[in-house]
Amino acid sequence: TFVIALPCVDVKDKACLEECPVDCIYEGERMLYVHPDECIDCGACEPVCPVEAIYREDDTPDPWRPFTTANAEFFDDLGSPGGSAKLGLIEKDHPMVAALPVQDT
Ligand code: F3S
Ligand code: F3S
Repeated sequence: TFVIALPCVDVKDKACLEECPVDCIYEGERMLYVHPDECIDCGACEPVCPVEAIYREDDTPDPWRPFTTANAEFFDDLGSPGGSAKLGLIEKDHPMVAALPVQDT
């Protein structure tokens, strides 16, 4: 799977949303999250993020490793919705993300 990490927080450019062919990037309050079971590893999202927030899971920089867990756990109560368009903004974040200070970029 691919993972969205810290640079997305409080930025949410959403260029990635347009690129994903299977619509598996979901919008939370402060960042977007990749559904680990729905992502087909096409990689289309990675180069379009202007802040380089998206990584192949295995290539996620060490300080941002916890985001691999955060992306997955975001869906604990959502299951596999099968597409983010119909959900739109999901009014929550992973607790780790919710606890972050405001990211001034
Ligand atoms: Fe975030 Fe980059 Fe997508 S800032 S919303 S991961 S294009
Ligand atoms: Fe979509 Fe990116 Fe995965 S474009 S299928 S989230 S690699």
